[in-house]
Amino acid sequence: MRVVRTVAELRAALKGRAATALVPTMGNLHDGHLSLLRIARQHAESVAASIFVNRLQFGPREDFAEYPRTLDRDCELLAAAGCDIVFAPAEAEIYPEPQGYTIAPPPALADILEGAVRPGFFTGVCTVVLKLFNMVQPAAAVFGKKDYQQLLVMRSMVRQLALPIDIIEADTIRDPTGLARSSRNGYLSDTERVEAAHLHVVLRELVDAVRAGNRDFAALERRATATLAARGWRPDYVAVRRQADLGEPAAGAPLIVLAAARLGRTRLIDNVES
Ligand code: PAJ
Repeated sequence: MRVVRTVAELRAALKGRAATALVPTMGNLHDGHLSLLRIARQHAESVAASIFVNRLQFGPREDFAEYPRTLDRDCELLAAAGCDIVFAPAEAEIYPEPQGYTIAPPPALADILEGAVRPGFFTGVCTVVLKLFNMVQPAAAVFGKKDYQQLLVMRSMVRQLALPIDIIEADTIRDPTGLARSSRNGYLSDTERVEAAHLHVVLRELVDAVRAGNRDFAALERRATATLAARGWRPDYVAVRRQADLGEPAAGAPLIVLAAARLGRTRLIDNVES
């Protein structure tokens, strides 16, 4: 496995290689990330992972400074998982000058849910991912359904900008308790970690009600929000939406329930498809 820090090293490492599948990450890797790597391997002969904590997608009051940076351990995990190339650039390599050109995704998709709570988040994500795509020039890239809205934004960016890249989705990897694996789980105290599993429990209950035919989505959302609040969470949203585009539910359309909520100082997101 080659670990490269600059675009020049990256291009040299990629030279002569067969088609590459890219797994973009911000590091502090866990089983969720590693599952993406295994899926990448099924789609291309060569697998690259990027590790870059992207300042552009963090709001001014968010956790950019404290986001865990664990490059050595990440590289051990990636080597064991059969990664070929790790691209771990310094900030100046991705943003050598202030980023004047940015990719702003359509508001209908990117200013709702996560984008409503985190203004500019998806512009930050699209801008860095497009740069990573230009640097690595992968044939495919893998994204997790854990960040479902991000996955849809990536699909729409690739479609609208005619990028020759297959976007491949990966199922959410969870702890035995049901808690979705996340780098931010590391912020949880022991007691918060026990409580954290309830985000998924509440979403499952909501999905069960939808599957059972309950169509009063607003009431279901309110009830789930109240349940979380009563348990000590500060919910940002609980929403029943269409899987295809996160629009308001329509008759016959496959649905998904998404939520984001804070537990102590940790903000967690999760979703369950119905
Ligand atoms: P990060 O949060 O590190 O996540 C990297 C990838 O891992 C994303 O595609 C995410 O959906 C996936 N992932 C995270 N937890 C997962 C889980 N429990 N199961 C399955 N997949 C999981 O998402 C980002 O970084 C950044 O926004 C990035 C795309 C790298 C742009 O900076």
